[in-house]
Amino acid sequence: MKKILITGGAGFIGSHVVRLFVNKYPDYKIFNLDKLTYAGNLENLKDIESKSNYKFVKGDITDAHFINNLFQEEKFDSVIHLAAESHVDRSISNPLEFVQTNVIGTVNLLNAAKEIWMGNIGLPTSDIRPHLFYHVSTDEVYGSLGDEGLFTEETSYDPHSPYSASKAASDHFVRAYFDTYNLPVVISNCSNNYGPNHFPEKLIPLCIHNIKNNKPLPIYGKGENVRDWLFVEDHANAIDVIFHNAKLGSTYNIGGHNEWTNIDVIRLLCKIMDKKLGRAEGENEKLITFVKDRAGHDLRYAIDSTKLQNELGWKPSLQFEEGLAKTVDWYLANEEWLTQVTSGNYQKYYEQQYVAR
Ligand SMILES: NC(=O)c1ccc[n+]([C@@H]2O[C@H](COP(=O)([O-])OP(=O)(O)OC[C@H]3O[C@@H](n4cnc5c(N)ncnc54)[C@H](O)[C@@H]3O)[C@@H](O)[C@H]2O)c1
Repeated sequence: MKKILITGGAGFIGSHVVRLFVNKYPDYKIFNLDKLTYAGNLENLKDIESKSNYKFVKGDITDAHFINNLFQEEKFDSVIHLAAESHVDRSISNPLEFVQTNVIGTVNLLNAAKEIWMGNIGLPTSDIRPHLFYHVSTDEVYGSLGDEGLFTEETSYDPHSPYSASKAASDHFVRAYFDTYNLPVVISNCSNNYGPNHFPEKLIPLCIHNIKNNKPLPIYGKGENVRDWLFVEDHANAIDVIFHNAKLGSTYNIGGHNEWTNIDVIRLLCKIMDKKLGRAEGENEKLITFVKDRAGHDLRYAIDSTKLQNELGWKPSLQFEEGLAKTVDWYLANEEWLTQVTSGNYQKYYEQQYVAR
């Protein structure tokens, strides 16, 4: 049985990846390693937690000693690394935490994988193809676009926020381990995700919650920032395709060909929720409130994922309107999940903070 370590599996994207792998590959043993920070919640995996090919391990990727012991004990065949601090606003108030988790944590995992797959010298002693260290990253490493153009895999890195700088640094370390030690790696850089289980500090789930409760919808600046939105299950499917077929040492961009300004996303959401909540047309839009822009706010992200489509045959399956309606339905039907993940210490932050990636 292949042993696959998925880090950050209790978070938003990680939980969808864990679910997909546990259900689709009964001959893989999936280990979900997660510290369960405010963003990690085992509620996200209730439906698969009793499956025999799934195991949860609570732990911190910044703890090198713990990580080394775990790898020595379990001898994982491959790693899909998603654990991270992921919220740009939090990175502005606490950059060091992002360096620790996103950079040091990633290097701890790279070291532990190198040690068990190749020994401490780092040169391949046997065929390395059965192993893979897959780093899940973001399009934010590329910086900001003007009105034209798309990020390709050749775009130079130009991160602006402490979050994107920490992800860029971790990407560089992953490539350095390929170049220096021949560690078998792959990286994907994905655009903004949306869908079920998204922690409600991010734009879409925050606004769904606020619309439902007739609260203001805080939009940074004039809402003109453009993001390329991808349904989270499409991202999980792309990760599956890349994990099984990627050329070692390569990078793939993942995106939805789906650019929207923030204000248009929220207008569409308001419209969908007018209907779903039985409110008059235009009622929810009255809740839109413009707030002071985020420091260093990137204007536009847009992804060219032609390489992934041409080489590995992946493409997004859902139209945005359909995915957004599905997301709204999920949040309306899962009020208990929302109460659970926003209880305790987080409550204060949640009440005070504004928007999202
Ligand atoms: N959300 C997006 O739109 C998006 C887009 C592209 C790439 N990504 C990347 O995908 C990955 C997952 O993003 P997400 O939105 O699901 O994030 P998330 O914040 O929802 O989940 C992160 C998970 O990592 C865990 N974690 C945090 N610190 C840890 C530590 N020190 N040790 C172990 N576990 C720890 C948390 O408990 C949580 O379960 C991240 O690497 C992120 O950079 C996210």
